[in-house]
Amino acid sequence: MMKSAWSFPAMLAAALAMGAAVSSAQAETAGEKLYKQNCAACHAIAKDAPMGMGPNLHGVFGKEAGKLAGFPYSEEFKGALAGKNWTAELLDKWLEQPQSVAKGTYMMYAQPDASVRKSIIEYLQTVK
Ligand code: HEC
Repeated sequence: MMKSAWSFPAMLAAALAMGAAVSSAQAETAGEKLYKQNCAACHAIAKDAPMGMGPNLHGVFGKEAGKLAGFPYSEEFKGALAGKNWTAELLDKWLEQPQSVAKGTYMMYAQPDASVRKSIIEYLQTVK
């Protein structure tokens, strides 16, 4: 049958592709992967990488909110967060519902899953 003539190389290619996927998944943590899926579209995180729609988040953990030079934070963000530091607790509230922390903020995102928020916050702590 035609099918058996090509099924072995096709299976081999699939197995190789799976192997590649597994090894790259091991190189990054769950938090980093979730960050890429949830945040990277708007937030660069590599040191000195240009800001996107949102501010660069390199080293944001523990810092004062709203301090990335040149980023046009909303008035609502500045009003609600001026002088506050990004602790794990504040980040958790922020990611769960930015609008409840700073009503009118430009950040259009919300993450209802506490375990996803926790992994992402743990990852942010490592990028400093
Ligand atoms: C759709 C785009 C978008 C997505 C997705 C997004 N953000 Fe934001 N984020 C923004 C914008 C825009 C701001 C600035 C808000 C303002 O000025 O009102 C912001 C602000 C922030 C700040 C404040 C930074 C500072 O300089 O004080 C943090 C922290 C943050 N986002 C974390 C995250 C994390 C973590 C994720 C993923 C779980 C995420 N954001 C997903 C757009 C986004």
